[in-house]
Amino acid sequence: MIKRILITGGAGFIGSNFVRFVLNKTDYSIVILDALTYAGNTENIAEYLTDERCTFIKGRIEDNEIIRRICTEYDIEGIINFAAETHVDRSIMDPTPFVLSNVMGTVSLLNMARELNLRYVQISTDEVYGSLGNDGLFTEYTPIQPTSPYSASKASADHFVMSFVHTYGVNASITRCSNNYGAMQFPEKLIPLMILNAMEDKALPVYGDGLNVRDWIHVDDHNSAVWSVYKSGKKGEVYNIGASSEQNNITVVKMILKALNKSESLIQYVKDRPGHDRRYAIDATKIRTELNWKPEITFDEGLSSTIEWYCNNMEWCNNVRSGEYRNYYEKHYKQ
Ligand code: NAD
Ligand code: TYD
Repeated sequence: MIKRILITGGAGFIGSNFVRFVLNKTDYSIVILDALTYAGNTENIAEYLTDERCTFIKGRIEDNEIIRRICTEYDIEGIINFAAETHVDRSIMDPTPFVLSNVMGTVSLLNMARELNLRYVQISTDEVYGSLGNDGLFTEYTPIQPTSPYSASKASADHFVMSFVHTYGVNASITRCSNNYGAMQFPEKLIPLMILNAMEDKALPVYGDGLNVRDWIHVDDHNSAVWSVYKSGKKGEVYNIGASSEQNNITVVKMILKALNKSESLIQYVKDRPGHDRRYAIDATKIRTELNWKPEITFDEGLSSTIEWYCNNMEWCNNVRSGEYRNYYEKHYKQ
């Protein structure tokens, strides 16, 4: 019997890498549902579009009818929801799309998981916990204290997931991962933006003092964790995902410049992000011990293979940069 899952947001950065993971490492078939917003790119999944185990459908997760049609026609076993508006700076400019996709969209998927008794995994983020000081780590018991419109929308979605578990018995779990990097990440996020700007000898805009800390994980490690949670995670449980790889932003930027043999004079300190979270760091003990998952890729290895991927995929970079991204870039960095 064919086992098939619905992957939403499968044309985005993490979702498209997850599509590759599932098709290469499991015997599952998939349906990808993606709205193809500015961040969705079918080039990311081009090689799988002709695979008989993969079906791509353009549509929005808020659209109840399309979700119902997919889940019934394709006999879907479970939903893994990667679809979201994801960029903090965009959420500061306009929070509304974040409510529609991240909150309304999640509720519409949960309604279908409830109606058809489907397994459901919500891809959330460590940003729902807010910001840490110099010490401590986020555990699954850390209070939810989102600080940006993006993290507020993701936190709201998490509360809906838990409410569907407790009220209707939906078989749902939540993952909360730290900052991802890797191939095919849209160049509005720190690492790909800095790689592309350095390659073109453009200024590298570092917010504030550059000492904000993020806990980096390679996208392939995130995705192996998501699969463990889909297969073995328990109903109603949250799993933090991280690779214990804290770096401050300026260190990451300098590592990129060094790898590309570019001068640190390209670094340009710019006005800080409003409400900029100081530090994120994950305690992943629960998923390591209960699901026997562990990350495989060190930050040094992962960053250098990521830089290599961008250098070898200039056509992908040029296509992405010539689109809507340009308008957003001009507006955001016009200072
Ligand atoms: P992304 O912005 O690269 O991709 C998001 C994808 O979702 C795009 O393909 C877009 O077209 C699609 N999408 C957006 N709204 C949609 C809607 N209403 N209906 C259908 N499709 C829609 O994001 P990403 O970095 O791949 O993140 C994927 C998920 O992982 C998100 O839920 C995000 O919150 C979470 N996450 C990301 C990170 C990170 O560092 N990137 C870390 C932790 C968690
Ligand atoms: P980002 O990749 O946007 O992820 P998030 O805000 O979700 O953690 O940013 C990562 C860090 O890099 C964050 O501290 C903000 C900082 N940053 C810059 O300094 N300059 C930039 O141009 C961008 C996009 C981010």
